[in-house]
Order: sequence, then structure tokens, then C-alpha cells
Amino acid sequence: MTSLRILRPDDWHLHVRDGAQLASVVPFTARQFARAIIMPNLKPPVTTVAMAAAYRDRILAALPAGSRFEPLMTLYLTDTTAPQEIRAAQASGFIFGAKLYPAGATTHSDAGVTAIEKIYPALEAMAECGLVFQVHGEVTDGEVDVFDRERVFIDRILTKVVERFKSLRIVFEHVTTREAVQFVQGARRGVAATITPQHLLLNRNAIFQGGIRPHNYCLPVLKREHDRQALIEAATAEDARFFLGTDSAPHARHSKETCCGSAGIFSAHAAIELYAEAFERAGRLDRLQAFASERGADFYGLPRNSDHIVLERAAWSPPAAYPFDKDELVPFRAGEQLAWRMIEERRA
Ligand code: NCD
Ligand code: ZN
Ligand code: ZN
Repeated sequence: MTSLRILRPDDWHLHVRDGAQLASVVPFTARQFARAIIMPNLKPPVTTVAMAAAYRDRILAALPAGSRFEPLMTLYLTDTTAPQEIRAAQASGFIFGAKLYPAGATTHSDAGVTAIEKIYPALEAMAECGLVFQVHGEVTDGEVDVFDRERVFIDRILTKVVERFKSLRIVFEHVTTREAVQFVQGARRGVAATITPQHLLLNRNAIFQGGIRPHNYCLPVLKREHDRQALIEAATAEDARFFLGTDSAPHARHSKETCCGSAGIFSAHAAIELYAEAFERAGRLDRLQAFASERGADFYGLPRNSDHIVLERAAWSPPAAYPFDKDELVPFRAGEQLAWRMIEERRA
């Protein structure tokens, strides 16, 4: 196959930051995707409907002229998120979820949730009104091996929440392990998962290839080949529970290339191309549209997009860096070859 036309995709997990950084990165996503769930882990985090409205306005203002990209907002849950804030979010028309960051689990999670019971009132309200619960699924217990934190989160927390709140709609974000895939496959209705391009394309060897590779470091951290294969099988199966969420997470070069580097991989410059590569290697390009453009919208109860994008089999290399406000941003696969390129946008 040398060219592929699919319905325009959406990104169900994206970090675009704020201010001048926002202006540097949001055009990459707006070029490919119609919509994206905008993660709320700013400093300070987006914890209220008013903050989400203001952030949404800043995103819209940072879009290239003529862009029709639609930011789908989400709230950052804290120990004190009030049920009425949840109900106001659902009623807003522009907020589509609320996100659990276990305190200390990842970038800008210090204001996150310290114990799952603290958010039971919020989860109750979410289950009632239908707001989607988005989960960074890792325990923060320092005794637990970094590579086991997702698996242990399933056993200690997620299983309990899925059972207790029977009508709560849950997205297990950026799943990375075979156990997470199996958990979602076997879960009740209303439980789904997003998968990133890096977890489909790389295993943990990529963090240590000939030396330490900070630009391949994200959270949850890359896992074993056996896990990567389970993710490929899930993404390319005829299974409505698994859909696209890039987790594109830009950090300035100096905060990645340092003695305590930040977690996050920037992939928005080539997101759909990276997924196309993963699906092609699995011999399942025919399933890319379902994963990228159908299942996420269906899960969130939003209409699928009606216009298309076209991908062409044409090698190109992302540059060594992109501008990022006054800093630089090293993109995923910088200087390496990519097999696919998005060449055309058709607007309905
Ligand atoms: C994300 C970020 O930088 O905001 N980093 C990451 O490694 N994925 C946070 C997150 O999604 O956990
Ligand atoms: Zn996360
Ligand atoms: Zn993320």
C-alpha cells in the first residue's frame, strides 16, 4: 500500500502546556486531528470549570488562522474536588472528563489525589452524570518497582473502582503492560484504554540503547517486548475498547537532558504517521481508521469526524529540534526516518 485515506483522527490524550509553549506545539496537533482531550496538568492545575474555560480560550487563541481544531477539556481531580464542580463540568458542554493523577506519579502531579477514597464523592457524581473518568494508572509507593507500578495499580485501586462505581465510564490512559490490556479486555462495559505511539513502537531497551536516552523516557515508562506485543494486538484487534491517545508531552530540551530529566515524549509532529508505521508492521493498516478515528469518538459519545486525511508512503526525517518558546524541543524519532507522511487535508 502506498497511500491511505482515513477519516480525520482525534487525539484522546494530549498535553499542550500553556503560554508561548502552547503556541509552539498546538499547531502540530491541529494540522492532523480534529479534536483532542487536553490534559489539565498545568501549574497550577486546571481544577475548576472556570479554569478550563479560560484555558480553552487560550488554546483557541493559539491556533493557526482558519483552524477548526476543537480542544476537549478535562478537569484535574484533587482530594477536594466537589461533586457540584463535576456536575457543572458535565453541564458546561466543553468538558468531557476528569483526570486522576495519583499524587507524585508523574509530571505536575503534586496537587493530585493522595488516596482514592478522597475522590469517591467526585466519582459518585461522575457515575451519575456520565462524565468520563480518566486515569493515570500507576501506584506511587516507592517500595514498588517502577516497572510494576501499573500492574499493582490495577490490583490495588482500579479493580476496586470499576466494581464500586458500576456505571462510571473509565479510560485507563496510556496503558503499557500486557496485564493492563488483559484487564481492559475482561472488564465490564464502559472501561476503555488509550495507547501511545511510543508504547506501540518501542520497548524498554530503547531507553538504554548504547547509553541513556532521555528522549525515550516517559511515564508510565516503556515496558518489555512481551508487553509491547500485547499493546499491538489490542490496538489492531477488532476491539472498540482501545483507541488513540498520543500522550504527546513536550518538555524543553534542557529539562530532559539533565541529571534529573522530566518524563514525556513529544510526538505531535508525526503522530498519525507513527501509528501508521506501527499498524503497517503488524500488517493491519486496515484497522488504523477504527483505532484513530472511530472508537474514541464512539466511547465519548461524540460524532465521528466526516472529513479525511491522506497518508502517503514517503520517507522523511523529523528535524533535530523544533522551537519551543525560547527553548528547543527534541521530537520523537528526531533525525531518524519515518515511513509515512500525512500529505493532504480535506475539510468537509
Ligand atoms: C506527562 C507530562 O509530561 O505531562 N508525561 C509523561 O511522561 N507521560 C504526564 C503524564 O501523562 O503522565
Ligand atoms: Zn499520565
Ligand atoms: Zn499524559
